[in-house]
Amino acid sequence: MSKIIECRDLGYNYNNGEIQTPVLSTLNLEVNQAESIAIVGQSGCGKSTLLNLLGGMSQPSTGKVTINGSDLSQLNEEEITLIRAQCLGFVYQFHHLLKDFSALDNVAMPLLIQGDDTQTALKKSSKLLEDIGLQDRLNHQPSELSGGQRQRVAIARALINKPSVLLADEPTGNLDAKSAKEVLGLMMELNQQQKSALILVTHDMSIAKKMDRFLTLENGTLV
Ligand SMILES: Nc1ncnc2c1ncn2[C@@H]1O[C@H](COP(=O)(O)OP(=O)(O)O)[C@@H](O)[C@H]1O
Ligand SMILES: [Mg+2]
Repeated sequence: MSKIIECRDLGYNYNNGEIQTPVLSTLNLEVNQAESIAIVGQSGCGKSTLLNLLGGMSQPSTGKVTINGSDLSQLNEEEITLIRAQCLGFVYQFHHLLKDFSALDNVAMPLLIQGDDTQTALKKSSKLLEDIGLQDRLNHQPSELSGGQRQRVAIARALINKPSVLLADEPTGNLDAKSAKEVLGLMMELNQQQKSALILVTHDMSIAKKMDRFLTLENGTLV
C-alpha cells in the first residue's frame, strides 16, 4: 500500500499578537491510497485546523506534512497550489459553490482553471453530474438546489480532477438525515471507484464507523 499523506510530530499554535493558542502537538498520521478515515472530536479540538494543515492552507508550527512524497515545508506557494490542484479535493460544511454559476459550470471550474478545453471540461462534468443523479439540474444555480443537491455538486467539483485525497470537513453537518446519508454514500462510492483516500471530519459516530478507521482528536493529538 502506498502512503498518500504522512504527518510527523505535527504541532500548530495560533498566534494573535501576544496571545498564543496551542491547538495541535506531536500529532502523527499515515493515510494509505484509497483508505477512508474519520476524524472525530469535540468542537474546538482542532479538526479543521488539522485539515487546513493537510491541505497546505496553513504551515505547521512544528513537524511536517508529506503529500504523495512531497514535504510541504520544502515547497514554495506555487508548488503547494499545484499539489493542491492535482492531488487534493475539499468539501466543507457549507458548500462554497459560486452562486452566479450553474451546477455544471461549478463542477467544470477546476478543469477550466487548469486550462482544459471548455467542451471537454463541460462534457466530463455533465457525465459526473449524471452519475450522481443530477442530470436534471445541470443548469440550476446553487440557490435553485436543495442543501443535499448543493453538497453533491460540491463533492463532484472536489472530485472532478480525480484527486488522490478528498478532505471533507463536516460535509453532512448542515443536512437532514436523508440528504446526509446520500451525500455520505456518494463520497464512499467515489472513494471506492476513484481510489481516492477520504479523510472525513465528523461529529457523527454512526458515520465515523463506516470508514476503514476512525481516529479521535484529543488534547491536540490523534488517539
Ligand atoms: N484564527 C484563530 N485564532 C486563534 N484561535 C483560533 C483560530 N481559529 C481557531 N482557533 C482555536 O483553535 C481551536 C481549534 O479550532 P478548530 O480547528 O476550528 O476546531 P474544530 O474544527 O475541531 O471545531 C479552537 O479552540 C479555536 O478557538
Ligand atoms: Mg471545524
